[in-house]
Amino acid sequence: MPSPPSMARAPGALPFFGHAFPFLRDPFAFLDSLPAHGDLVEIRIGPTRAVVVCDPELTRLVLQDDRTFDKSAGMLYSALREIGGDGLVTCPHDQHRSRRRVIQPAFGRDRVVEYTSVMGRSVDGVVDSWKDGQRLDVLHEMSKIAADATADTLLGGLRAALTSRTASDLTTLLELFPRRVLLPTAWRRLPTVGNLRYGAARSRIRRTFGAVMAERRADQRTHDDLLSMLIASRDSERSRSGLDDTDICDEAVALFFAAVENASATLAWIFHLLAQHPSVEQCLHAEVDSVLSGAPPSIDHLVRLDVARRVVMEALRLYPPTWVVGRVAVADTELRGHSIAKGTNLFYSPYLIHRRTDLYDCPERFDPDRWEGVRASTPSFIPFGIGPRRCIGEQFALTLTMLAVAAIASRWRLESLPGGQPRPRMGVALQPAGLRMRVITRRSAGLSPVKPPTPAREVSTTGEN
Ligand code: HEM
Repeated sequence: MPSPPSMARAPGALPFFGHAFPFLRDPFAFLDSLPAHGDLVEIRIGPTRAVVVCDPELTRLVLQDDRTFDKSAGMLYSALREIGGDGLVTCPHDQHRSRRRVIQPAFGRDRVVEYTSVMGRSVDGVVDSWKDGQRLDVLHEMSKIAADATADTLLGGLRAALTSRTASDLTTLLELFPRRVLLPTAWRRLPTVGNLRYGAARSRIRRTFGAVMAERRADQRTHDDLLSMLIASRDSERSRSGLDDTDICDEAVALFFAAVENASATLAWIFHLLAQHPSVEQCLHAEVDSVLSGAPPSIDHLVRLDVARRVVMEALRLYPPTWVVGRVAVADTELRGHSIAKGTNLFYSPYLIHRRTDLYDCPERFDPDRWEGVRASTPSFIPFGIGPRRCIGEQFALTLTMLAVAAIASRWRLESLPGGQPRPRMGVALQPAGLRMRVITRRSAGLSPVKPPTPAREVSTTGEN
């Protein structure tokens, strides 16, 4: 009988640290280098062996089988659990279906359509304060938009509790997170300055969410949002959903975190890419002028913004905010003839798949036209994941992103500042670190010629919600 194929190993592992240093130094170059070695490539993070899935079809197989490839353990989830406990993002398979059932109604298509006017106000609340010529920390501004929109639609009452301290606590967690994942677990317990800052930020955030929840419980008025849904599920269905107060706080923290990090990174990359590609920017402006005719964007407008849709998809391809995600094999299994032992950590990476030269022509190039007429429900475009653990906030995120792009592009141009070029930063989300831009009133510069509106489409990149 032929022996099973041996799995490729990434070169350059150091004793004890494995590939932690190349990963920390330039994770994107490291990921890009892996497909050259095989479809499944073994790496070492410290003493721990992990497998990176470099092939879209194998990625699909792993993600569809969430019973075998679970989130129950593993280095990524143990670090994420420190922030959001066992919320939907991190909970193991045996809790997942019931948790998803409780939360899903807040993310249904009709519900998201209802959120659009509130989201529009959250965008205006931030953008209205911009002044012509003002320098912007774009990521910070986009985080404000995403935080306000999430608080106002899903977690009513949170907005009043959000302070600049919450924002800086979130930043602290995100900055220090990669080290917590990649360095040995014992290191997390040492009283280093970073570990102490991390612990304090985490505790403050949880206290803020805990206080909002206590306030909501004491409030006799009816609220129609996710927080009330979670509290009601605890009160009425305790035996089924099994959520207690700590679980609800976990869910709220994890959802807020997922929403703000991913949506803000996407928006920030979009405005950076537009500033680097003036011809695309002009097309977008022409489309927005034609479709909106000066009105604030609504859901009816969004389905007619095809250039905007393609820009959003291309930004999500080049800079998928959830750039690497983990699973753990909970039983001995095999993938394409390679045996995978129980306990093996596996990673999939939308970033890696989206930049494979055999899947995308000139993958480094920002080219929204590659999505012309393409609905992209293919395994090679996976910014929101695949399978049962696919992003629950996909429609929410796309709607908010399209609204913000349309609202901002109808009023402003964002121009890059010298020295303000971003570098991709490895955090929980793939963020444009150091992005500095200036806002310019677009209308004073004259409008571009108007293009006719494009055919109606759904506000979905994949049509798979
Ligand atoms: C551009 C924005 C976003 C991107 C690219 C994104 C991406 C992803 C990806 C790739 C996953 C799957 C991870 C896995 O395979 O384990 C995921 C899961 C998840 N996302 Fe998002 N996300 C975005 C926005 C949001 C928003 C706005 C929310 C909530 C308001 C959200 C909440 C969640 C939750 C709760 C899960 C876990 C779902 C489950 O395990 O059932 N995400 N997201």
